[in-house]
Amino acid sequence: MRVTIFGSGYVGLVTGACLADAGNDVVCVDVDDAKIARLNAGEVPIHEPGLEELIARNREKGRLKFTTDAKAGVAHGLFLMIAVGTPPDEDGSAETFGTCSRSRAPSASTSASTRS
Ligand SMILES: NC(=O)c1ccc[n+]([C@@H]2O[C@H](COP(=O)([O-])OP(=O)(O)OC[C@H]3O[C@@H](n4cnc5c(N)ncnc54)[C@H](O)[C@@H]3O)[C@@H](O)[C@H]2O)c1
Repeated sequence: MRVTIFGSGYVGLVTGACLADAGNDVVCVDVDDAKIARLNAGEVPIHEPGLEELIARNREKGRLKFTTDAKAGVAHGLFLMIAVGTPPDEDGSAETFGTCSRSRAPSASTSASTRS
């Protein structure tokens, strides 16, 4: 199954790697160019036991890809998941602007780095 995950942080990256290992064809999209470059170079920006091996194995099998191209991510996935950050707002509540804008904007954007 083709899956796209927006946000390659703790939640998105681990979820993407596990879904790829289960045999799905996964694309992970992130606005952070440096993070995507590291992932495409085989580096893993977070520490989770076993994650590095999981990512390497599934990249090698072509089931796990990383991009900043939101439009390509939308075109790829039958299922689109949003795992972008929700940092605390001034009153302590979750700031959901990123999540809401991501769910509206991707088809209109050519790149996740647009940060719309
Ligand atoms: N980490 C946890 O243990 C945990 C537990 C439960 C729920 N959550 C929730 O899951 C979500 C993700 O958490 P996390 O810990 O993975 O966050 P994180 O900060 O580690 O990762 C978020 C990623 O989203 C990327 N991003 C931001 N805007 C984007 C956009 N428009 N398009 C694509 N990528 C974008 C960031 O560059 C970053 O890499 C949050 O809503 C968080 O509250 C996290």
